[in-house]
Amino acid sequence: MTETDRGATTTGPGELVDRPLVIWYFGAALAYLLISMTGGLLMALQLVRWNGFDGIEWLSPGRWRMVHTNAVAYGFLANSFLGALHWVVPRLALRPVLSPRLSRLIFWAWQAIVLATAVGILLGQAQGLEWGETPVWVDPAALLGLLLVAVNFLAPIVQTRGPMYVTLWYFMAAFIWTFLTYAMGNFIPEYFVSGTSAGAVGGLFIHDLVGLFVTPIGWGLMYYFVPILLHKPIWSHGLSLVGFWGLAFFYPLTGIHHFLYTPIPMFLQYGAIVSTIAVEMVVTTVIVNFFGTLRGSGRMLATNLPLRWFYTGMVFYALTCLQCAMQTTLTFQALIHFTDWVVGHAHLVMYGVFGLWMQGVMTYLFPRLLHTEWYSPRLCAWHYWLSAVGLFVMASDLILLGVFQGYSWAALQPWDASIEISIPFWVVRVFAGLAMYAGLLVFLYNIYQTWQVSRRQVPAAA
Ligand code: HEM
Repeated sequence: MTETDRGATTTGPGELVDRPLVIWYFGAALAYLLISMTGGLLMALQLVRWNGFDGIEWLSPGRWRMVHTNAVAYGFLANSFLGALHWVVPRLALRPVLSPRLSRLIFWAWQAIVLATAVGILLGQAQGLEWGETPVWVDPAALLGLLLVAVNFLAPIVQTRGPMYVTLWYFMAAFIWTFLTYAMGNFIPEYFVSGTSAGAVGGLFIHDLVGLFVTPIGWGLMYYFVPILLHKPIWSHGLSLVGFWGLAFFYPLTGIHHFLYTPIPMFLQYGAIVSTIAVEMVVTTVIVNFFGTLRGSGRMLATNLPLRWFYTGMVFYALTCLQCAMQTTLTFQALIHFTDWVVGHAHLVMYGVFGLWMQGVMTYLFPRLLHTEWYSPRLCAWHYWLSAVGLFVMASDLILLGVFQGYSWAALQPWDASIEISIPFWVVRVFAGLAMYAGLLVFLYNIYQTWQVSRRQVPAAA
């Protein structure tokens, strides 16, 4: 039996990649994305004064909001990353993960942790720590899970011989940083420090989650998939090293830029601003490198859908970094702090960049995992357009609204006035969110039909 006619539900002896496991991870990721978007829509409806669960405490908007953000980070992104890592790491290291059994155990344990987090939050047991709302009794299990993930993937990576491709540099760092970041953010403010010190650690934690977990895995995947799709090497290996080491040196210090103008000592705030400016320069080198790689092959964006997902994410990445450059100045920060500008920024980076990349990875990998072409390439295109345009409308809407809100507060208008300004923008967000939701439903339907086709093909091939 060849690799192409083997059923998707089996892994052949000696096969590097555990394909069914990758499918499970992607399935779980998409299920959590659906849950998260449902939570986002409920929150968005509440903000336009329609709360379908009024009076039901465990379905109150504040709790849905936390389910929304946690399901996206730990359910959607973590699961889709783990699925992609199970595909990429064995192929680059030319060795399977340390233990395929451990991989499957981690899969189930991780789903239990994310579900326990969602249920704990709905039952009112959230920890008072942004992005660390995971109930205290779940934290040690999550940390152990991250340790096992690191050991399982690092084992094949450290055995590779010869120069190591930049993707593996990013992954190695991410495994270690994610473990340390989670430990720092969830245990230090809870048990060891309080007040502004806890606030400072919280600031580091929320930004390091993005910069030291999501960013290195996301870019690591781009360094792997983009050259494969373009059939050429990355434009500059030198620049890719600048990007990696720049991230390693400057990113860990930036987090306190979330808490400018707070009682956190000013020298820490200035330090965060300076390192943010350094990160801006570093990310510019990465973006230049990827667009340099695309040079001469731009037409492929019209015909190759995964590539289009990737480069759309990179354009949004450049936009979020431009926003960061403005946000990190004290003058601009004074205008947009606490406004919807920040919520727009969060969606642009989390969904516009990493969400798009992971859906691009899935668009590329599902046919390879299921050993059949997409049931409907046209639905694939619909998925892309609904998601990308929906996100673009949502982010622009909120970013613009943030500026209006900021000027309204700066002019000392009554609070109600800023709410009145906001309502039309929040209505637009509901519709933009519905477009993204529809995009996801289209994708799920297409995957289901493709899976049905693959199931019919396997007995025929046998
Ligand atoms: C159906 C689509 C979505 C809708 C309607 C939606 C709506 C919302 C709403 C209403 C909030 C709370 C804003 C506030 O407190 O003022 C929020 C927060 C957030 N959402 Fe979404 N969302 C959607 C999809 C997503 C996706 C796909 C992601 C990431 C992949 C995401 C990431 C976030 C983040 C990170 C926050 C926290 C923002 C902050 O604290 O500044 N959302 N969303």
